[in-house]
Amino acid sequence: MSFRARILGAAAGGGLPQWNCGCENCNLARAGEIPSQTQSSVAFSANGRDWALLNASPDIRQQFADCPALHPTGLRDLPLRSVLLTNGDIDHVAGLLTLREMQPFTIFATAGIHDVLNDNPMFAALNASVVARQTVTLDVPTEIAPGLVATLFPVPGKVPLYLEGDIVETELVGEQTVGVHLQADGQDAYYIPGCAKLSDDLRNRLRDAALVFFDGTLWRDDEMMRAGLGSKTGKRMGHMSMSGEDGSIAAFADLNVGKRVFVHMNNTNPVLRPDSAERAEAEAAGWIVGEDGLEVTP
Ligand code: MLT
Ligand code: MN
Ligand code: ZN
Repeated sequence: MSFRARILGAAAGGGLPQWNCGCENCNLARAGEIPSQTQSSVAFSANGRDWALLNASPDIRQQFADCPALHPTGLRDLPLRSVLLTNGDIDHVAGLLTLREMQPFTIFATAGIHDVLNDNPMFAALNASVVARQTVTLDVPTEIAPGLVATLFPVPGKVPLYLEGDIVETELVGEQTVGVHLQADGQDAYYIPGCAKLSDDLRNRLRDAALVFFDGTLWRDDEMMRAGLGSKTGKRMGHMSMSGEDGSIAAFADLNVGKRVFVHMNNTNPVLRPDSAERAEAEAAGWIVGEDGLEVTP
C-alpha cells in the first residue's frame, strides 16, 4: 500500500450545514439534497497503516468514526501517529481537545503555532507525557509518520481570527500560516488549506506538482456579502477565491499541476452544489471539488 490521502473534512470553519446558517447550501444540506461536509482536515499515509492528520477539526470525533483506516486495531492501538497543524484557527486546532484520552501521538507545528496552543491552558488537557509537541522549522523535512516526510513552507495569510488586533495584515508571510509538502517513497503532494495569494514563491514550489490540495474557501470574494451574511470579503479573511482574474483557478492555469483538489470550502460556496454552474466551471478547468471520504493518490 503506497502513498495516499483521504479527505476527512472538505468544508471550512462552520462546516456544511453550519449550525446557525440558513443560506441556500446549508438548507439543501439539512434537507439531504446535497452532501453535508465536515470541517477541514486531510489524513495522509505512506503505507496505509500509519496515518498523520493534517489539522484537527471540531468534527474529528465523527471523522474518526467514518474512516475505517483510523479505527483502533487493539484495545488502545490506533493507526494515528501525529497531527500536523497549518495554522492556529479554531477549525484546525479545536479537534485536539477531543484527542485528550491519554493516547500517544505527536503534534507537529511551527514554533509560532505551538505558541498559540501553549498560550491556551485548555490544551494542557493533552498530557505532555503522552502527547508530544514537536516544533518544525520551516523548510526542514520532518518525518511525521513512518515513511511520511513533511516540509512546511510559509503561505500568505493572517493570524487566527481570535488573535486579530486593530490592524490586520492579511498577507503576512511567516510561521502563522503554512503549507505542507508531503513526500513518501518518491511520491508527493501539497496541502494548502488557507492561502491569501499565490505568490511567486508559491508558484515556483507548486509548478509541475503531481497533487495539490488548495484553499477553496469562496467562489467569489464578495460571496458572503452577496448572500447577506455579513461584511467580510475573502481577502479580509486571508483567503483567495476560486474565480476571477486573481482567483486560484486562473492562478493555477499555467502551473502544470497534475491533480488539483479544492478543500476548506465555506458553506456558501456554490461548488458545494453538485449541479451548479460553478462546479461545472471548476471541473472544466481541471479541478476536483473535494468531499468528505474522498481518497486521492498522486
Ligand atoms: C478561516 O479559515 O478563515 C478561519 O477558520 C475562520 C474562523 O476561525 O472561523
Ligand atoms: Mn478555516
Ligand atoms: Zn450556510
